[in-house]
Amino acid sequence: MKPKQPHTWSGPDAPAAKAAYVRSMFARIVPRYDLINRLMTMGLDRRWRRMTAELAAPRGALALDLATGTGDLALELARRGSRLVVGADFCPDMLFAAVEKVRPAEAGARIAFVAADAQRMPFADDTFDCLVNGFLLRNLSDLHGALREFHRLLKPGGRLVCLDLTHPPRALRPLLWPWFRLAVPMLGGLLSGDFDAYTYLPDSLRTYPDAERLCAMLRAAGFAGATFRRVGLGAVAIHSAVKPQGRRQFN
Ligand SMILES: C[S@@+](CC[C@H](N)C(=O)[O-])C[C@H]1O[C@@H](n2cnc3c(N)ncnc32)[C@H](O)[C@@H]1O
Repeated sequence: MKPKQPHTWSGPDAPAAKAAYVRSMFARIVPRYDLINRLMTMGLDRRWRRMTAELAAPRGALALDLATGTGDLALELARRGSRLVVGADFCPDMLFAAVEKVRPAEAGARIAFVAADAQRMPFADDTFDCLVNGFLLRNLSDLHGALREFHRLLKPGGRLVCLDLTHPPRALRPLLWPWFRLAVPMLGGLLSGDFDAYTYLPDSLRTYPDAERLCAMLRAAGFAGATFRRVGLGAVAIHSAVKPQGRRQFN
């Protein structure tokens, strides 16, 4: 089903239609995904993933990198001493690229990949010591449900770290708008041959909560200590939170 512009889905089939769109869109852009990321962020995306991995404190941990894509965050976790990293994604083409990337790396031996949907993961409750995701949350059709799923997957005391675009502070919007609305679709479109995919990127922020609201949603999903820091001129946020020890409490 073709989405109506500007990439909004409605009606009872909306969750499935958005998921199908997102999966096929990422499958199309795999070959140039890393290159375009580097160019769009002027190489800063690597630093943001390193910060994300560090906040997850992965040493000795059983770690989950949800929506692993081409595997960069999974590699960061493994290099920081994770006992085992599971990299999960619902787009098989992304996973094939991730396998190719991590295979030559020494730390790659501690990474296992699984094809799975972030909203319905095939793991038992309280499995992981830490859970990270990079540039996933805007793509989900049910963000509330996904945050509860992350909570379910983490052990009590487990750490969640989410890296994604966010709504920049109002004062910086005039500066960032031409980048997001003009340069990113043009650059991404020309390099990938897929203009629609890189128009979806800024569109995906339209219905996405701002950084403070995302903290409130994390608390509502049962997390404690929800906080965030902005990077990339405030256009990117790294949220972190902890699953409390003791009984679950959902709002
Ligand atoms: C923008 S890429 C990010 C990849 C990687 N985390 C990174 O930092 O570069 C988003 C990834 O999320 C995956 N994805 C989106 N929705 C998903 C879902 N519901 N379940 C699993 N993976 C999903 C896509 O297939 C894609 O690989």
